[in-house]
Amino acid sequence: MADLISHLEGDLRRRLHDLAHKARITAYGTAVYLRGLIEFSNICKQNCLYCGLRSGNRTLSRYRLLPEEILDCCREGYALGYRTFVLQSGEDDWYTTDKLVQLITSVKQQFPDAALTLSVGERDDESYTRLYAAGADRFLLRHETASAPLYRALHPTMEYADRRDRLRALQRIGYQVGAGFMVGLPGQSAADLADDLLYLQELQPDMIGIGPFLPHRDTPLRDEQPGTVENTLDMIALARLMVPDALIPATTAMGTAHPNGRERALQAGANVLMPNLSPMSVRAKYMLYNNKICTGDESAQCRFCLEQRVKSAGFHVDMGRGDSLKHLSRS
Ligand code: 5AD
Ligand code: SF4
Ligand code: FES
Repeated sequence: MADLISHLEGDLRRRLHDLAHKARITAYGTAVYLRGLIEFSNICKQNCLYCGLRSGNRTLSRYRLLPEEILDCCREGYALGYRTFVLQSGEDDWYTTDKLVQLITSVKQQFPDAALTLSVGERDDESYTRLYAAGADRFLLRHETASAPLYRALHPTMEYADRRDRLRALQRIGYQVGAGFMVGLPGQSAADLADDLLYLQELQPDMIGIGPFLPHRDTPLRDEQPGTVENTLDMIALARLMVPDALIPATTAMGTAHPNGRERALQAGANVLMPNLSPMSVRAKYMLYNNKICTGDESAQCRFCLEQRVKSAGFHVDMGRGDSLKHLSRS
């Protein structure tokens, strides 16, 4: 696998992306599922070296949306047609399990036909269990990198083994689970990327988020090289072939790395887009990496923009819940 990854170019690369495209058509046809992303707090107790939200970044202006404001975002998103809401934040302990349970209950009461995805980082079994019981359907927790030494170098406040343990716990509890990783991390080898793919094959997640590493100027990795669009497309394609029924987003990081990065991801096996539903006033503050796209665009603009992009790439927007085939065959 490592050998293949380091020799992908020209014709071989085109054939790989084409095989991934065919696998995606077999599994999901030309549907592209849209998820409304609400970035509800940029406060984080962790200190990941690559991330602009790291606690060590004292220059970032911090915000936290209140439950009522989050519900307003859902309302706007629902009116625009979204039937999945992704509530994402840094690891912000102000949002206790109790508060999240209340929030989830309200969202599910007001929008019973919408799926709810959480992306709030590592919590204990009891918390994950109560959030699931309150109505959360899915959970995103990227494994970030399958290389133990690289994971340790990048995450001074977290443990490699915990990460894997949390992903298994989420699956056991019943969530549709999303794992995933960054491409082009400093020091990451082709063998490390091969391990990322083999880990996905072993875990069999419902969702797989893959994006290029993009340096942020207020982090220790400011002077490192970004991951490339080409290498990231290769990983998306290989992930599609190794977990054919997964839901794979064309990530915002791909759209940031290249103006047509998301369209190209859709053509290399991706089948999900996650536009921002956060209030305009906070968008620029959820800055994981510099130059993030859509920070100056209204939710309605993104909704329209994506419709065009999906069509131009040869696909169609599906505004349904878009549950994973893996999940549907389990239930
Ligand atoms: N470049 C690319 N992706 C990043 N993430 C965090 N910081 C960066 C960065 N500098 C990703 C992580 C995290 C997800 C929400 O964003 O993989 O899980
Ligand atoms: Fe916090 Fe997530 Fe950023 Fe790490 S990657 S610092 S856990 S927001
Ligand atoms: Fe946000 Fe294009 S997706 S403006």
